[in-house]
Amino acid sequence: MASWNVNGWAKPVGTITIAFSFLSCFSSNDVLAKEAVAINEHPTPSADLYTWLEAKGATVNIVVGPVNEGGLRGTVATKDIASGDLICQIPHSVTVDVGDHSLPGAELAVQLFRRQLTDPKWNASFEPYWKSLPAMGTLHSKEIWENPKHRELLQNDYLARYAEVNTNWTRDVFAGNASLDPGRMFPALLAEKLPGADKVTFEDFKHAASLMATYTFVFPNKEGTYMRVLLPLFDLINHKGTGANTYVGKDAATGSYHLIATKDIKKGEEVTHCYNWDNERNDYSLIHYFFIQKLDPPRLCAIDLPSGSLDGGFTEPDDRYLPHEKGAIQELIAELEARLSGFPTTEEEDEEILAKEGGKLDWISHRVIDFRRERKTSLRLAIERLKEREKIAYSLLSSTTKASAGKEEL
Ligand SMILES: *[C@@H]1O[C@H](CO)[C@@H](O)[C@H](O)[C@H]1NC(C)=O
Ligand SMILES: *[C@@H]1O[C@H](CO)[C@@H](O)[C@H](O)[C@H]1NC(C)=O
Ligand SMILES: *[C@@H]1O[C@H](CO)[C@@H](O)[C@H](O)[C@H]1NC(C)=O
Repeated sequence: MASWNVNGWAKPVGTITIAFSFLSCFSSNDVLAKEAVAINEHPTPSADLYTWLEAKGATVNIVVGPVNEGGLRGTVATKDIASGDLICQIPHSVTVDVGDHSLPGAELAVQLFRRQLTDPKWNASFEPYWKSLPAMGTLHSKEIWENPKHRELLQNDYLARYAEVNTNWTRDVFAGNASLDPGRMFPALLAEKLPGADKVTFEDFKHAASLMATYTFVFPNKEGTYMRVLLPLFDLINHKGTGANTYVGKDAATGSYHLIATKDIKKGEEVTHCYNWDNERNDYSLIHYFFIQKLDPPRLCAIDLPSGSLDGGFTEPDDRYLPHEKGAIQELIAELEARLSGFPTTEEEDEEILAKEGGKLDWISHRVIDFRRERKTSLRLAIERLKEREKIAYSLLSSTTKASAGKEEL
């Protein structure tokens, strides 16, 4: 669940830098998240994590635990907190600036391994944190989308290729044959004769690459470079779009990170954070973080928007992107209907697969099928909305015609 990863920018506001995703999350209000969503599955950390953080000077008023009846894990407040108050603070010394924010997970993984292997004492001191992170085999994302069957389940060539390109990159950065400066690929650590580098397996590497891409926040360092940052405990807070009740800020003077309430929060209530509005599009959140949401009303996938791609920036509600002129509406309806009828399985068939075979599917297949079913639902509902809008466009058109005809008569 939880990877609370802000995969966005952070923007300085006074001395506190706020994750950019927070700003964008609060600029839009019309999507209601029914539930907080799991990103990837993560374990409930042992007490060691809290003990370690507090010994290092952290203030901790949240605890990881189940947040719904389905057993979804997230973070809940351990006391009443008023809007505007500090919920948690973690000092810079328990955080890790992994590398430039624009680097792919594999290249960040090389940097993390380099630091861990170069400074075993430092690495050992972070043990309570490493242990709080998801175990091998429980993460998924574009960096490690190896199984062609899982890509095929997407029922979309663009998404499948996107996952494959990224997965190939992870493989090549580990093997040392990516088109990249050799110093930034894994074999450089062997060449540097860092003790233990030879023990790092491809499985370890893939896991780290996915972790770097899905469990990091983006904040500027002292020099002003935007970095991927590991923030213990904060990375276990679930994503929520509308309705999130916190934001994460960085104190530029001390480098510490603050979790601030944006609403009154009761003891025992879940604490949520909006990573990025782009995650309100299920194709984006699935490929990058491997979670989907069931929003009411559902939003179209980014690739189903008229100018759709996975590049991000489609943060506003669907209506911002859908046409209002009759001709364009008709064209889009035809396009979306063709798309909906062109899938190898229908929405109902996907539902049936999940209902009948759900228990036999591996968790990745299960989520991918759930994704494509949800995609079809949003397409169907968008078509219905567009047809309603088309009717209004007709009636507006005919009343305008009448009005101008009336003028002529005068
Ligand atoms: C870092 O420390 C953890 C234990 O805390 C250990 O499991 C891991 O292998 C170490 N990483 C490296 C790259 O040495
Ligand atoms: C990924 O790598 C495989 C094996 O080298 C190759 O066949 C395939 O074309 C690559 N995929 C993409 C999308 O580049
Ligand atoms: C790099 O090496 C790996 C492992 O040997 C291989 O699977 C992959 O296809 C190679 N990639 C390129 C781009 O040559």
